[in-house]
Amino acid sequence: MAEDLKIIAGAKQEQYEALLPQIKGLLSGEPDLIANLANISAALHEQFGWLWVGFYIVKEDALVLGPFQGPVACTRIRKGKGVCGTSWEKETTLIVPDVEKFPGHIACSSKSKSEIVVPLIRNGKVIAVLDVDSEAFDHFDATDQQYLEQILNLIEY
Ligand code: SME
Repeated sequence: MAEDLKIIAGAKQEQYEALLPQIKGLLSGEPDLIANLANISAALHEQFGWLWVGFYIVKEDALVLGPFQGPVACTRIRKGKGVCGTSWEKETTLIVPDVEKFPGHIACSSKSKSEIVVPLIRNGKVIAVLDVDSEAFDHFDATDQQYLEQILNLIEY
């Protein structure tokens, strides 16, 4: 069993750098996808205190709510709908500085102001998306994208 997560203060990049090896440790030796998505959600939430962080998992023609930390959320998102469904369809990371300005954004919480969604791609297919929501406008940038993609690359599936 892993020890407590070590929470780091400092610049965003330093926080991610400290978190990466810890997440690697949490995933090592555990082949179960859900268990690993759950611990990644918890570690990111604990370190950064974002409003909502979690996964939607591709099941047939929809994204279905998976492990997350934060307020209750919508359970199903169709392909091409909202930020998550668009990230799935386009197979790319999306950074949304103001969710109200994203056509078709799905408001699970009125507190959410900005968002980043990163697809988890294996064998050329999106199998899940990581969704992170913030109560602040324009909260996510290329640094988040780079590190969140790196974190998802640690997942063996
Ligand atoms: N806002 C997302 C829906 C998921 S919740 O924010 C947790 C979207 O537009 O896809």
